[in-house]
Amino acid sequence: MAQIVCVLGNKGGTGKTTLSHMISHGMALLGKRVVCVLTDLERERLSKDGRLYLPFDAREAGNLSKVVATLNRVDDWFGVIDGGGNRSDADSHLANQADLVLLPFRDSHEDMRTVLRDLEWMPRAWGLPSQWPADDAARRAAEASIDLLLGAYRHRLLDPVPHLWATKLLLQDRIPRGLPWQLTNACVALAMQVFELLDVQYESPAAIDTGR
Ligand SMILES: Nc1ncnc2c1ncn2[C@@H]1O[C@H](COP(=O)(O)OP(=O)(O)OP(=O)(O)O)[C@@H](O)[C@H]1O
Ligand SMILES: [Mg+2]
Repeated sequence: MAQIVCVLGNKGGTGKTTLSHMISHGMALLGKRVVCVLTDLERERLSKDGRLYLPFDAREAGNLSKVVATLNRVDDWFGVIDGGGNRSDADSHLANQADLVLLPFRDSHEDMRTVLRDLEWMPRAWGLPSQWPADDAARRAAEASIDLLLGAYRHRLLDPVPHLWATKLLLQDRIPRGLPWQLTNACVALAMQVFELLDVQYESPAAIDTGR
């Protein structure tokens, strides 16, 4: 049976689509077979060309349950499902099918208040700080906001995913052959955190060419 990770949340623009591709890319670099499932009606499907994982278009009614049923029949695969945003009914359906639910949020009180509600509503889900500032002062302010609004949930937060210009390359129809090492490292670090939560063994990242 494949393992399924859902990237969900009741807030638009938090990075769900980008993070789904980052996790899929990172898992593939760690030696896994991955399908990245698109459910967002507003997005175009993306080409398989140049990707280490399989993008799957599940926007049409029925396709999502088909791909989940297929994943439930195969071993050694991972499914990463990108939730659509602002669709609580669809989100709770997806959360029920998942081995792991991730709830991205940015460095804003509005995002944090929303993810607080989602963490309360989904007791097995994890918060994922997304597009996190690199600048020291901004990062300290972001951490202070977490202490203020999400302090009680620190034990359910993953390490932040940095704000990286290059993340948008993964959402191009065809991705460039050589991706910046900063992006590669961020994808691998994120996938490693996901595997640790799923209790999955993976190839040593030392074997990966990060381009440095
Ligand atoms: N780590 C990152 N660094 C820099 N920019 C990012 C990062 N993650 C996402 N972005 C940018 O933030 C914007 C929103 O990201 P994305 O589309 O992945 O969010 P979403 O949650 O899927 O949005 P929606 O709710 O509309 O589906 C995009 O412009 C994307 O390029
Ligand atoms: Mg999206």
